[in-house]
Amino acid sequence: MVFWIGLHILAATLWVGGMMFVHLALRPTLTEVLEPPQRLAVWLGVLNRFFPRVWWSILLLHVSGMWVLLGVMGGMAQARLHVHLMLGIAWVMTGIFAYLYFGPFQKLRTAVAQQDWPTGGAQMGRLRTWVTTNLVLGTLVMVIGATGRYW
Ligand code: HEM
Repeated sequence: MVFWIGLHILAATLWVGGMMFVHLALRPTLTEVLEPPQRLAVWLGVLNRFFPRVWWSILLLHVSGMWVLLGVMGGMAQARLHVHLMLGIAWVMTGIFAYLYFGPFQKLRTAVAQQDWPTGGAQMGRLRTWVTTNLVLGTLVMVIGATGRYW
């Protein structure tokens, strides 16, 4: 239990904390300092490194969460409201991430390879919208997950 909850919280921190850093610190700085061609190239480098780690964190969250739920808590029927909410919102976030990874992110890669900056900028705008949505949902799930047992 301790091992799996430890893994769970580390994976959640990587995903949600990573989005928070990108949204609050990296994005405004890049917009201020760099012109579109360099900015999009930096974005691509950053996201090429961050997104594979997000896939790992999603896998770990689902496996560790299910391990605790099925192995320790006695399954879905015994689970309290906060665990149902966590699981439901986590699946929505996973769906959004899969969409942004296979949709706008792949189009951003192609646009940067072809030096098509307007298309790259438009795809970055879509990525921003969906990453911000996941950041809001992720922050909510962190609070729900950590406080739920005290409700
Ligand atoms: C975005 C995804 C998720 C985030 C950010 C998240 C976050 C958290 C947090 C912060 C905790 C509290 C850890 C602690 O202080 O003990 C927690 C606990 C837990 N999570 Fe998640 N979680 C996510 C996905 C999932 C999924 C997919 C499951 C699958 C069933 C799950 C099942 C659980 C369970 C069973 C607990 C223990 C609850 C308790 O002790 O009352 N989580 N989660």
